[in-house]
Amino acid sequence: MLSIVKSMSIQGLEGFLVDVQVDVSSGMPNWEVVGLPDISVRESKERVRTAIKNSGFEFPSRRIIINLAPANTKKEGSFFDLPIAIGILIDFEEIDVQDLSNTAFIGELSLDGKINHVNGILPMCIEARKLGIKRVVLPMDDAKEAAIVENLEVIGVESLKDTVKFLNNEKIITPTIINLKDITNSKINYAFDFSDVKGQENIKRALEVAAAGGHNILMVGTPGSGKTMLARRIPSILPDLTFEEALEITKIHSVAGLISKDIPILLNRPFRSPHHTITSNSLIGGGRIPKPGEISLAHFGVLFLDELPEFNKSVLEVLRGPLEDREVTISRVNASLTYPCNFMFVASMNPCPCGFYGSKEKECTCSNEAISRYMNKISGPLLDRIDIQIEVTPVKYQKLNSNEKIESSDKIKSRVNEARKLQLERYKEYEIFSNSELTPKLIEKYCKLDIYSENIMKNAFEKLGLSARAYTRILKVARTIADLDNKEHIEAKHIAEAIQYRSLDRKYWKN
Ligand SMILES: Nc1ncnc2c1ncn2[C@@H]1O[C@H](COP(=O)(O)OP(=O)(O)O)[C@@H](O)[C@H]1O
Ligand SMILES: [Mg+2]
Ligand SMILES: [Zn+2]
Repeated sequence: MLSIVKSMSIQGLEGFLVDVQVDVSSGMPNWEVVGLPDISVRESKERVRTAIKNSGFEFPSRRIIINLAPANTKKEGSFFDLPIAIGILIDFEEIDVQDLSNTAFIGELSLDGKINHVNGILPMCIEARKLGIKRVVLPMDDAKEAAIVENLEVIGVESLKDTVKFLNNEKIITPTIINLKDITNSKINYAFDFSDVKGQENIKRALEVAAAGGHNILMVGTPGSGKTMLARRIPSILPDLTFEEALEITKIHSVAGLISKDIPILLNRPFRSPHHTITSNSLIGGGRIPKPGEISLAHFGVLFLDELPEFNKSVLEVLRGPLEDREVTISRVNASLTYPCNFMFVASMNPCPCGFYGSKEKECTCSNEAISRYMNKISGPLLDRIDIQIEVTPVKYQKLNSNEKIESSDKIKSRVNEARKLQLERYKEYEIFSNSELTPKLIEKYCKLDIYSENIMKNAFEKLGLSARAYTRILKVARTIADLDNKEHIEAKHIAEAIQYRSLDRKYWKN
């Protein structure tokens, strides 16, 4: 007899429908899976057989052929355990045959028949809904995540036995429902707030500009000057996520297996700060069953590389393409996958190996050669992709000790929001969201300089010896500063401020 049970799988961030066709016949006892299963799918055999037995069902010796259709797409993961077991139990007549054509089953079985969490539930359920599936039966632990999808009946199950009872109408399982409005209306809380940072007004201003235009930023400063502290607070001044953005980052984190069973949707901007020992694979994504890397987990949020020169040079190299393209393609044997990675890049570094070059508190013990070797660990092409560079110097003791009222992140964020609104409106026909994404053509259109600004720019290039790479960076940042000022045209003061954010080019990376 042949039974067909619907299931879902995933490729990159997209779910796709899989028909699990199970044929049980008498003949030489055998078990075969066809339809491009990878090793993780072939391993389902032992789990399914043992789970069925341990759930109290007979498992007679039969010839079992399982076909996963469409046959030309690679299947990986343990999603198919549950649909395979259901298909077999239908053939064994343990389940009353009923119309299951609008139901999809997803789940991994453990040997005792429990149903375990699987990754990628959200994208699979979004696609299932699109394809007209009305009901999904999936691990209880993943039920809330699935319930984000509207108009889809979500049946969370704990065990194979319960699932069979449910299908045989011997057990009632109420569909899982979540109240999306309650969740999305709840106030977003970030762990760190700018009101903790004393002094540093100019640095906070630079971070506000960076947040307002989505600009990448590099902070150079002595140890203890507050670089890490400042970076951690950047997500708290980025504009709130739209629901679509929240859904997109939740999909990525779902595929990576990072969604908690109680908080099914991510409403905070991600802040990822991988250690400098990270490999290229973990940074950009990959692996046998490819997972999104840190750059994709940082999508719509911040990727912070603390102590930038400590990272392996080859790791920094692989960052360049994704920084430009805002998506990353991972090549595989049979296909390639693309994950989005539109993040704000934030990096910090000391000015030299000992950390105190240019410091007033302590003398630098490094040779000129050592300093330039250190700074040159950051390659030109990477620097090219950083719009704003600032020098962080420690706050004075009086500042640290003072009780003056400090502006909160929410206040800063409200200005950022206003500036972003202008950008969204201005660029709505171009599918970009911020000034940092301006293409050369759009720079020409929206970053025109008047004669005064032109002069300042010219002077800066001649007197400060700015590099050519600095030019477009300055224009984009000046556009953001003008937006924060609610001005339609870039003015001299905007350009002057933007030029300041390139001064380190000359100090450390003269060319
Ligand atoms: N402006 C500041 N206001 C309040 N505390 C500060 C400030 N700057 C530094 N600190 C304190 O110093 C600590 C060290 O700062 P940190 O961010 O780790 O420095 P860095 O990363 O530059 O080495 C912080 O955790 C914080 O306690
Ligand atoms: Mg630090
Ligand atoms: Zn030094």
